[in-house]
Amino acid sequence: MGEDLPPLLEVKGLTKSFPGVLALRGVSLHLKKGEVLSLIGENGAGKSTLMKILAGVQPADSGEYLIEGGPVNFQNVRDAMNRGIALIHQELNLASNLDLAANIFLGREPNKKGIIQDNEIREEATKYLQRVGLDLPTDTITGTLPIGKQQLVEIAKALSCDARVLIMDEPTSSLSQKETETLFEVVKDLKNQGISVIYISHRLGEVIELSDRVTVFRDGENAGDLAKEEINHENMVRLMVGRDLSEFYDRQIHQPGKTVLQAREIISPAYSTIPVSFEVRAGEIVGIAGLVGAGRTELLQTIFGVTPALDGELELDGKSFRPQCPADAINAGIALAPEDRKQHGLVLPMTVRENSSLPSLERDQTKGFLNHEAELKISEKAVEQMQIKTPSIEQIARFLSGGNQQKIVLGKWLAMNPKLLMLDEPTRGIDVGAKREIYKLMEKLAGEGMAILFVSSEMEEVLGMADRAYIMHEGKISGELDRNELSEESIMNLATGGEKTAA
Ligand SMILES: Nc1ncnc2c1ncn2[C@@H]1O[C@H](COP(=O)(O)OP(=O)(O)O)[C@@H](O)[C@H]1O
Ligand SMILES: [Mg+2]
Repeated sequence: MGEDLPPLLEVKGLTKSFPGVLALRGVSLHLKKGEVLSLIGENGAGKSTLMKILAGVQPADSGEYLIEGGPVNFQNVRDAMNRGIALIHQELNLASNLDLAANIFLGREPNKKGIIQDNEIREEATKYLQRVGLDLPTDTITGTLPIGKQQLVEIAKALSCDARVLIMDEPTSSLSQKETETLFEVVKDLKNQGISVIYISHRLGEVIELSDRVTVFRDGENAGDLAKEEINHENMVRLMVGRDLSEFYDRQIHQPGKTVLQAREIISPAYSTIPVSFEVRAGEIVGIAGLVGAGRTELLQTIFGVTPALDGELELDGKSFRPQCPADAINAGIALAPEDRKQHGLVLPMTVRENSSLPSLERDQTKGFLNHEAELKISEKAVEQMQIKTPSIEQIARFLSGGNQQKIVLGKWLAMNPKLLMLDEPTRGIDVGAKREIYKLMEKLAGEGMAILFVSSEMEEVLGMADRAYIMHEGKISGELDRNELSEESIMNLATGGEKTAA
């Protein structure tokens, strides 16, 4: 194959906007035959948007899309499929009540004189299932298979449509370690068969293992490309966040003070047989890592009194306490910025002023009277301190960006000067600039002696921010890692049920 052949697939200067968002601002990307290209970037960088354009799910606003050097203009998924481009969906697209053969050939059963040839379908289906390493009878009902196997069926289906390019958008986000390994074997096999893959993942370890090349997006633009020999953790993160890691997270290590929160064998209602013990000290930033569903949010909610502990002991500043509702926790000096700030952290139809003063007024108000002067003072201080970008404190919270909404949530909690600040996915869905401000704030608060406990699914965030982390797996704390023990591998290992190994 000559090096001067045009790439199998190429886009140049693509733009795409949604109401209020410029999701892609002139991005370019190319893919060669038999290549595994990883596309990485923070949440909201525009990765999925581009993949949907490549697969004909949605059109671009402008820019070029070329296959083997010739321009294409896909109107729908079928057009893309006809040129061999297949998107393996994050939410799988299979009919769960049909068997494997039916799913693979759904809508295009081979037939002779109008009669569907069942034998033929099953033979063909078996062939494609074998190509993805699935040794299963073709009459297996699809919905009975675990998610990882269903994903392989979806890949088999794409192959049966002569796919030359497979697009996988975060395929491992809901897979077990074992399923992930199987998927990797399949991807490597397909590559050897000349199939090209565009792979999207937040797990940089996976990207290092699989990729021939990496393209990085940041805020809807190309941030850089890495050739095989340049692919490493540092380079990827630097391109994703646009600056050196140490500068982005900017942590200083504080000598931790006295224990602020001590949990001894507490039991959350969500995991009624699993006692959990941990502590957070003054001036410490402690992370809780784990896969989605590991019980991290439930743990914070138990400490916050949303779902009171069934058993065990909690101590705050050395005094025993047992929050039965959030007001108890707030009164004791605990704040929680929840995962879903739109649902629990903010009252969207209310103004910045009203939102930022809610919890401290709950504490201070006398006999149901809202103290308006106090309210004004608190919210003005919050806007200034947190650098909330809003036209005025009378702006309705709904109309602010995610980053500014999160700053309101934090601002309102800080107004009550908590001893322990708990953050659940503090930067989910917010842009890089606002992220950095939130990290700076966490650092500043810890420097002032606040105890901070945060849950994060973003490995980078845990590695960058935590002095120490607890890793959860299926409701229990499977290990504790010091800053110098924290790595993507050590976290993943414990998060997927492995044991802590000596460093
Ligand atoms: N259908 C849509 N409607 C409105 N906004 C969208 C839509 N799809 C994506 N966006 C926005 O476009 C930006 C890029 O999103 P996305 O491509 O999903 O990023 P990524 O996959 O890199 O996390 C985000 O700001 C997102 O909110
Ligand atoms: Mg995405």
